[in-house]
This record gives sequence, structure tokens and C-alpha cells, in this order.
Amino acid sequence: MQRTEIIHALARTDYGAQINVKGWVRTRRGNKAVSFIALNDGSTIKNIQIVADIEKFDEELLKQVTTGACISVVGTLVESMGKGQTVEIQAQEIEVYGTADPETYPLQKKGHTLEYLREIAYLRPRTNTFGAVFRMRSQMAMAIHTYFQERGFNYFHTPLITASDCEGAGQMFQVTTMNLYDLKKNDAGEIDYSRDFFGKQTALTVSGQLEGELGALSLGKIYTFGPTFRAENSNTPRHLSEFWMIEPEMAFYDLNDNMALAQDFIQYCVRWALDKCQDDLAFLEQMYDKELTQRLRFVVENDFQRLTYTEGIEILKDAVAHGKKFEFPVDWGTDLQSEHERYLVEEHFKRPVILIDYPKEIKSFYMKQNDDGKTVRAMDVLFPHIGEIIGGSEREADYEKLKRRAEEMHVPMKDIWWYLDTRRWGSAPHSGFGLGFERLMLFVTGMQNIRDVIPFPRTPNNADF
Ligand code: 4AD
Ligand code: MG
Repeated sequence: MQRTEIIHALARTDYGAQINVKGWVRTRRGNKAVSFIALNDGSTIKNIQIVADIEKFDEELLKQVTTGACISVVGTLVESMGKGQTVEIQAQEIEVYGTADPETYPLQKKGHTLEYLREIAYLRPRTNTFGAVFRMRSQMAMAIHTYFQERGFNYFHTPLITASDCEGAGQMFQVTTMNLYDLKKNDAGEIDYSRDFFGKQTALTVSGQLEGELGALSLGKIYTFGPTFRAENSNTPRHLSEFWMIEPEMAFYDLNDNMALAQDFIQYCVRWALDKCQDDLAFLEQMYDKELTQRLRFVVENDFQRLTYTEGIEILKDAVAHGKKFEFPVDWGTDLQSEHERYLVEEHFKRPVILIDYPKEIKSFYMKQNDDGKTVRAMDVLFPHIGEIIGGSEREADYEKLKRRAEEMHVPMKDIWWYLDTRRWGSAPHSGFGLGFERLMLFVTGMQNIRDVIPFPRTPNNADF
């Protein structure tokens, strides 16, 4: 008999039909005469109820139908009398595929803490919460591809192993096949990378942008969507060592075009979540965050506030003058701390903010330099509860200016000469940005910790599973 996924079974009304469903037992309760089994197969957050008359089944078989066990059920689809469900299955045959010993199965009770579930991350997709989050994660990936594909962007694959440190922050994970127990050094005491696998020092990429720019300066509009790695020792609820980034890059876009795209893109993704993830959203809203859909709607319906870094600093200084206390000082030229970003977004403007024209000292070498000699055409999109969700800029298209800035910031020429060449032959104005996929996931799910929106989080001191 053909198996029906539970999401489809729940939508059926042809009562009396024979049906087969398969899945994992969430709970089993009942009395001496009848057992009620809540079954879930991951196709939806909703369980289907299986009703089993005890006398029809072998006692030993029913004993194996415990929380976590995997079973296949053949039965009759019937209209349900229970509240909150329309159909259930009157079971005729039950086959146990895999038992789950109640003494050892770790997901016995409902209501485990998220911290505990993180320790058993390999099992947590079986819970309602993580089922919802990971179904939504898959939906958001689809939203992203659909958005760009419908607008003529090319999905461009940039390398994960690279020699260039795009952000210049020295946070790269080295990739080597050299024997670390027996490292050969040259006469100057340096490691001889010419003996290494690629014949030079390599690392995992922190961003696909530099190669993405080559794509934009030939295909016109591209986007990347892949894993990125940062050996950044920050143990915060917003940082991962391995995260996914979406990086669109567009020829002939200036910073205004870039901002407009960033807003439209995020709004599209959030609208997708509202339209296509209703059951999962409703669950997360009820369990964790009563204002979730309200916040998502607000972002979809309102323009993001645009202002310069300098204006932002003035607002923050003004707040301090009126008694607002920050842990870190507010000074033109220093990077904004998350408390500053959150003040602008959550307290002052009460909406997403796009900050532009940052001091060049706190931004990367590739950003277009403004005529004031002090600032660059950077943009950060700041979100309520998240802080920075997007970082981007218009790119420096002038060869001499770019080269000088790279030298000033000590970016090794041997690693980026090919990137500079794009400015020698057919250079063009262009812009792009990077959206942190997990930061978007934090926003749309209302989860508080970035470790809870990726199936297998990698953070300092943790690479389990
Ligand atoms: O601001 P970032 O460092 O910008 C870049 O990498 C540019 N090359 C992007 C571009 O212009 N093409 O990172 C971009 C975004 C951040 O805004 C944040 O959302 C996310 O990536 N991000 C992280 N997400 C999780 N964990 C981390 N450690 C992250 N670091 C950055
Ligand atoms: Mg940034």
C-alpha cells in the first residue's frame, strides 16, 4: 500500500478510505481498551492521531509503541471527534520499524530546555521546535533562490578553499595536509608552504565576495549562497564559526540601488515566511514569542530608515546627553557596539535601519571611498533583536585608489593581484552585500540563539556531531 505523508493525510476528507502512514511516535496514552498514538513524520508540525483498540493487537507489539519508536500503520481514515484535529486513523495493522527504549531515549518528556537540546543536537530535529525551525530554514533557502532567479541573477559558485582574506580580519581557518607533528621550516624559520597541498598557504573562505565581483563584472548580476567560516573567538548568541551567507553582487548598482535591493530582498523573504510557514510560525509564536508575526508584518510593511553613520553617532551622543547609559563610549570613528545598534533600531527609530558612510578605518579595503577622504560607501542593515543582519557596500572601482587602500591596510598583493586586475580591464561601478542566513533565520523564527537555527552549530570549543 502506498504511504501517505501526514501533511496530506490530515488534509483528506474521504472518510472510510484505507490509508498507510509512517512516522515517529510522539506520545502514546489511553486506557485498558484503547490506545491513542500521536504520530509525526516531519512533513508538518501536526501529528496524526492513531486509535488502536487494544484487543485487536498483540500486547508485546503495543508495548514497543513508545515515544520515539518508528512505526508504520495501516488503517481507516475517520472523522475525528477530538478537538484540534479533523481526521484520525483507526488502526488495523501496526508494524514497528525501530523501537526506542523508554529507559534511554533522551526525548521522553515535553518541554526540554533549548540548552539541553543543544547537547543532543543530533536528536533535536525530532522535537516540535526544531522540526519547525528546520522546515522554515528549508523554506527560506527556497525563498532566496526564487527571489534571485526570478530577477535574472546567476547563482555563482565561489570557492570555499582560498588564499585571500576578503575581510582582512585574520579570522581564517587554515587548510593544510602538512604533518603538524613534523613541520618543515626554511632557514629563516618559516614554514615552507610550497610543500603544502596547494603549494601555498590556504584557508577556508570568510566570504565569496572577491570572486563574486568577478562574476558580476561579467555576468552582470550574481548571487552566492554557501557556507562561510570564521575563526572568530566570539561566544555570542549571534556568531557561528561556520555560517551560511548570501552575497549578491551587481554591476552598475550604486549604494542607493544596493540599499533598495537589500530592503526588497529581506521583505520578500519575510513575506515568504508569513505565507508559506503558517503552521510552524504559529507554533513558534505560541511557544516562544507572542509578537513574532506582528514583528514580521511590520518589517514587510515599513521602509527601512536610512541614515549616515555620522548622523547615527549624533543621535547616540544626544541620547547619552539625555541620560542614556551605554557600556561602551560613543565616539566618531569607533565601531558601533550591539547596544548602540539596538538603541537606534529598537528605541529611537523603532524599525530596521540602514547605516551608510562609515569611517574607512573600521571597514574593509574594497569599499568605495567618499570624496571627504574619511568615509566609505558602506552599508549595514540593522534589525530589531538581531543587530547587523546585512553588511555591504559600493565597491571601489578605481584601480589606483583600491591598490593604495589595500597597501595601507596591509592586504598581501600576492593573494589579491587577480582581484585588482578587474579594475585594470573594464572596471565598472558595482555594489553588493552579504546577508547572514542564520541571522535571517533568527529573525523569522524568533529564536534567541543562533545555535538553534542551524542543525549542527560550530562554535568555539564545539564541533560535535
Ligand atoms: O559584514 P560581513 O563581514 O561582510 C562580508 O563578509 C562582506 N564580504 C559581504 C559582502 O559585501 N558581500 O558579513 C556579512 C553578514 C553579516 O552582516 C552577518 O549577518 C553575517 O554575515 N555574519 C555572521 N553570521 C553568523 N556568524 C558570524 N560569525 C558572522 N559574521 C558575519
Ligand atoms: Mg559587517
